[in-house]
Amino acid sequence: MSYFRDNIEAMQAYVPGEQPAGLARIIKLNTNENPYPPSPAVARALAEFSADALRVYPDPRVGTFVRAVSDVLGVDREMIQAANGSDNLLVMIARAALQAGRSVAYPGPTFPFYETQARIADAKILEVPFEPEYSFPLQGLIDAAASVTFVANPNSPTGTTASVQQLETLAESLRGVGLLVVDEAYVDFADATAVKLPSRYENVIVLRTLSKGYSLAGLRLGYAVAQPGALEQLWKTKEIYNVGMLADQLGAAAFRDQEYMQANVAKIKASREKLSTDLQALGWTVWPSQANFILARPPAGDAKGIYETLQADGIFVRYFQHPDLADKLRITIGTEEQNAEFLKRIG
Ligand SMILES: Cc1ncc(COP(=O)(O)O)c(C=O)c1O
Repeated sequence: MSYFRDNIEAMQAYVPGEQPAGLARIIKLNTNENPYPPSPAVARALAEFSADALRVYPDPRVGTFVRAVSDVLGVDREMIQAANGSDNLLVMIARAALQAGRSVAYPGPTFPFYETQARIADAKILEVPFEPEYSFPLQGLIDAAASVTFVANPNSPTGTTASVQQLETLAESLRGVGLLVVDEAYVDFADATAVKLPSRYENVIVLRTLSKGYSLAGLRLGYAVAQPGALEQLWKTKEIYNVGMLADQLGAAAFRDQEYMQANVAKIKASREKLSTDLQALGWTVWPSQANFILARPPAGDAKGIYETLQADGIFVRYFQHPDLADKLRITIGTEEQNAEFLKRIG
């Protein structure tokens, strides 16, 4: 006898990357955080924030932040829903759209939290393998015709992308069939965005986060862009006050400082190209990435051993238990100094 549902008993919990203590002594390249601090506007907003304000509940609509997103992106406020990180939005979407008898599709390998949500909902899972060199399996996802299709774009852990045209074709094919969730967690480091698709497709939800480009992983803030009819359904599934006041204020300050975010992104993109070239010179295979990390295969394929040796040395990278990834590592782009230290240890 179990007090819990059969599918919860049967599933594995999501395994996050390590968050070790003693950050000053380690090099943390395992969970795709930004190595640079958030905008100085965030520190100013924090200094100006009065603790007295916390006595009452926050604005359930997260209005200050949503206004900032609307102003900067030129997207209607009614098409924006904020949440406690984009993972919170993934949970809300699963609650709203999945149940036993419905199906979830995603290209594989990808962000494992999609599978977690599908298992909680007891939905059928259709993992569609990427085409060679991790090119986007458009036809496979069309054929899957799932109730919810998750596409991380850029994808994690591969760093590869689908084109906006491919996503539009998929959205069109899934019309009247299911939702297309385009998870743009890493879009700030990419060349293109699907953020305009929801205005034309009622079945598309685009997710964004402040955890990566804006250096605010610890704040927990993300948002969805979708048509008001879709957001109305998501709204019913949310925790009552899922975003605190601090996140509302600090997130708005960060989002309005696009110039600072773009400057950090430019540095990270330059470091991404340098690290890729340096690894290739050491005989590693590196897949072209549009994110703030790279997927790389060491010459002998001994990824797990390298991961363990590096970790014992205080350098954290990510190793995944997925058949396709056993010989690869995902390495977050750090500062130039951190990347150089990583290269020194593996060289
Ligand atoms: C593809 C993808 N989506 C969503 C998330 C979750 O981001 P957030 O910090 O907004 O919950 C991550 C986190 O690493 C991710 O890799």
